[in-house]
Amino acid sequence: MMSVTSSFSDLIKFIRSETDHHLHKIEIPSEPEYVYSPIRYVLKGKGKRLRPVLVHLSGRGFDADPLDLMQAAMAVELLHNFTLIHDDIMDNDDTRHGQPAVHKKFGQDGAILAGDSMFTMAQLMIGQVGENTVPAFTAFNQAALAVCEGQALDLQFERDTSVTLDQYLDMVGKKTGALISVCAELGGILGRESDETLMGLRYYGTNLGKAFQIQDDMLELYSDEDKLGKSTHSDIQSDKQTILSILARNHDGRAEIQSEDPNEKQAALREFYETTGIRERALELCGEYVKKANDSLNVFNGEHKDNMEQFTSMVLNRKH
Ligand code: IPE
Ligand code: IPE
Ligand code: MG
Ligand code: MG
Repeated sequence: MMSVTSSFSDLIKFIRSETDHHLHKIEIPSEPEYVYSPIRYVLKGKGKRLRPVLVHLSGRGFDADPLDLMQAAMAVELLHNFTLIHDDIMDNDDTRHGQPAVHKKFGQDGAILAGDSMFTMAQLMIGQVGENTVPAFTAFNQAALAVCEGQALDLQFERDTSVTLDQYLDMVGKKTGALISVCAELGGILGRESDETLMGLRYYGTNLGKAFQIQDDMLELYSDEDKLGKSTHSDIQSDKQTILSILARNHDGRAEIQSEDPNEKQAALREFYETTGIRERALELCGEYVKKANDSLNVFNGEHKDNMEQFTSMVLNRKH
């Protein structure tokens, strides 16, 4: 791994390309095609690799072994992509990473199998870290289970208008926060850090994850499929509890939606959230969670703390 970097963006570019290189190097058997074709397809996909980047940045702050960090980085990216494959089935979304979702391209059976297999490959990978193997394996699997719980709550909450802001935050803390949390934590585990530091790292990741999902909810409404590379109608179609629909509950008026056309529904909701200040409130809330996240970054020193703060801003300023 590179030791001297001229700037944060060079460092990120470097980590991304190294991660991609290692992901593309994973040996995927040619048979049975039913399971391995979709996996090859997913590994070539264009994810932002935010979670591997976080593992590396966190671990560099604690002098963790770069090879261990790469194992962990690949494991979290495999886990992440497994959750996306199954998520697109559950959300009935057709596009991911700018290409047909796995179940659209290979059918539902292939997508379920590929997801299960990628999760298993991820566990085999995290099990190979040299330092603190059992704590790393345990934290990784605890996070995976929390994601499943979060996904279950997400489905359970569909069309339930009694869901509160606290319940929403608990749900997103699990479906999205748990994985981002364990990315930060793995850097500390692999760097042999104390329980107190690990707690700080989890606090950072969970809060950043909540901010990230609040943002994701807003991007789905205010951006478009071309920019995001993923479908943008499922939240409305399935009546998902998003930060915007939750905040709208405390508002007296209701959005007037006459049309069944998803594009028209989307336009009406955009305008409603904008004119009522609900969008602004969601942005503020996102900012509050980002601030909480950054508050625990004093577990890092010097340039590493700087890098982590820049990572937070990079996530916050993303357009897709
Ligand atoms: C998408 O995450 C899933 C959520 C948790 C909202 P990313 O935006 O990080 O996924 P990539 O970059 O497309 O893989
Ligand atoms: C994100 O779920 C969390 C997981 C995939 C585990 P969403 O359903 O909100 O994310 P997108 O918008 O499909 O990426
Ligand atoms: Mg989804
Ligand atoms: Mg979902």
